[in-house]
Amino acid sequence: MAITSESSVDAVAVAHPRPAFDPAVVRRDFPILDQEINGHPFVYLDSASSSQKPQVVIDAMADYYCRYNANVHRGIYTIGEQATAAYEQARARVGRFINAPDSHEIVFTRNATEAINLVSYSWGRRNIGRGDAIVLTEMEHHANLVPWQILVQEKDGDLEFIPITDDGILRLDVFEVLLRLRPKLVAFTHVSNTLGTINPVREMTEMAHAAGALVLVDGAQAAPHVPIDVQELGCDFYAFSGHKMLAPMGSGALWARRELLESMPPFLSGGEMIREVHLRRSDFNEIPWKFEAGTPAVGDSIGMGVAAEYLMDLGMDAVRAHERELVEYALDVLPREVPGIALYGPMDPSLRGGVVPFNLPDVHPHDVAQVLDRFGVAVRAGHHCTMPLHERLDLAATARASFNVYSTRGDIDALVAGLKEVQRVFDV
Ligand SMILES: Cc1ncc(COP(=O)(O)O)c(C=O)c1O
Repeated sequence: MAITSESSVDAVAVAHPRPAFDPAVVRRDFPILDQEINGHPFVYLDSASSSQKPQVVIDAMADYYCRYNANVHRGIYTIGEQATAAYEQARARVGRFINAPDSHEIVFTRNATEAINLVSYSWGRRNIGRGDAIVLTEMEHHANLVPWQILVQEKDGDLEFIPITDDGILRLDVFEVLLRLRPKLVAFTHVSNTLGTINPVREMTEMAHAAGALVLVDGAQAAPHVPIDVQELGCDFYAFSGHKMLAPMGSGALWARRELLESMPPFLSGGEMIREVHLRRSDFNEIPWKFEAGTPAVGDSIGMGVAAEYLMDLGMDAVRAHERELVEYALDVLPREVPGIALYGPMDPSLRGGVVPFNLPDVHPHDVAQVLDRFGVAVRAGHHCTMPLHERLDLAATARASFNVYSTRGDIDALVAGLKEVQRVFDV
């Protein structure tokens, strides 16, 4: 089954074919971008690794620490109640951001990795047994691979992988065949952090459900960039990181359907996640607090709520349109201006998020990144936590430029100029 542009995210974003905001204006909200690095204007092209934070998020964190820093769900005093109210308001904001039917289905975590581990430890250890299959894909980030490896090794289960085409598109025809194994779970990334591929979550979820499997979507690279509606997607678990969507480091969330969360045993245990404790047994709290053992990252989660509001104010359709335009520009200008550059992933911008991996002939990507840094341009180089994907594509490493709401065409022009310097320095 081929993936057409109709099945891509842009099919729902046609109402806003052009960006509805000016990235040059948005950029002013991000104080870190207003500086020189090595004598050049700072060009940050590593947003897939972590995004920068707008002033409103920084201010919300500072406000919490300056005015009402206190633990939550405990203090019977004014600032304790303020902290609890702000923390729960953040949960409601994050829930609205992905259109969760109920904000109690949002569990705050440190990041997407912890959200996926929560599912593998809690749901996985109760539901995966000998011979049970879990279907993943060849393009998974290690965060959505290693937890499942550990689980099936422990339970004597089985991992299967949906292969990709050479241009980084999932082979849904093979997926259909794998579903005959009646897997218990299908877990895949919404947007590839390395190739940018936007996977057709709804179709894949329908296929998986028809075969009796639950679906976990790794939304780490999607939540910052495309409109997310978990009800429309139909999946069972949606894991994402706050720090990639303009929120503080150490913030993230898991969304799961209420009945699943209620049926799952706790992952971490201790204070906060209990209702009653006796010496030899305990009763657990209701969801989501059952999964939030110990003191949570209150300030970070409040910041995540503000980041979600900031993105919703920009409009996620507009965010997607802006990134698509940048990808289109990058895919056009890089091969024209930089001789010999190799680009990877789907060449159709409607199937691709704001991630552009590349290599220059005869220059190691680490050298590319180092020389670019001399010109103030920050890109990532390496395997981007997708070693199996690099193996599949027969690549030792790649360099990667990635965008966010504050990225501009000027950033891509600076990348092009920097790459020409790399070629001059290495005489290639
Ligand atoms: C697709 C994908 N999944 C999961 C993760 C893990 O995110 P975190 O490090 O925030 O847990 C990343 C991080 O780059 C990612 O790109």
